[in-house]
Amino acid sequence: MPTVIINDESVESQIGERLLDTARRDAAHIGFVCDGNGLCQMCECVVLKGGDHLSPPNQIERIWLTEDQLEYGTRLACQVSVRGPGPVEVLTRAERLRREAIDVISPPPGTNVGENLGRLVNDLLRINVDHVERWPFNMLYALSNTLAVQFSLNNLWQIFGDTIRITTKLLRSDRVSVSDVSRTPPELQSLPKSES
Ligand code: FES
Repeated sequence: MPTVIINDESVESQIGERLLDTARRDAAHIGFVCDGNGLCQMCECVVLKGGDHLSPPNQIERIWLTEDQLEYGTRLACQVSVRGPGPVEVLTRAERLRREAIDVISPPPGTNVGENLGRLVNDLLRINVDHVERWPFNMLYALSNTLAVQFSLNNLWQIFGDTIRITTKLLRSDRVSVSDVSRTPPELQSLPKSES
């Protein structure tokens, strides 16, 4: 079975399975507000390793993601499926932001609140700038498809259940700093060091 490492945790996947479904089954920290319909981008993740074991970017990903993002390994987990044995390693945007926020509240040794806050703000700004860069195609796509998405009662129950499982798992998890260089996209590691 293909191995996928999501936010540092190894999970067994299946050939043809979407990364989002693998993540949800394992209660990995990932967003899925639109339930995997390619509308919310909350499932965005960065492929750190094994990208050639995944399906190539599809049309929906090309609507939402810039060329730079795709080149960098950014994918929408609800649009990408496992195609090879792996291992594939990904860091979800939800988890990256969580780690950045924790580093602000409780800075790891050698860092300070200011620089960690700068990184978090920079990341949030970058996410919004990237979205604007894809205007108006992404918004037109979202508007034309939102009404077509129908959540069955079953889906709502599943969304609720998965959210509870993910939250419970997060509350039990050990702290991981985004400053762990092996787990952090390079552009977020390059903050200027504090003068002090
Ligand atoms: S879950 Fe909404 S875009 Fe992937």
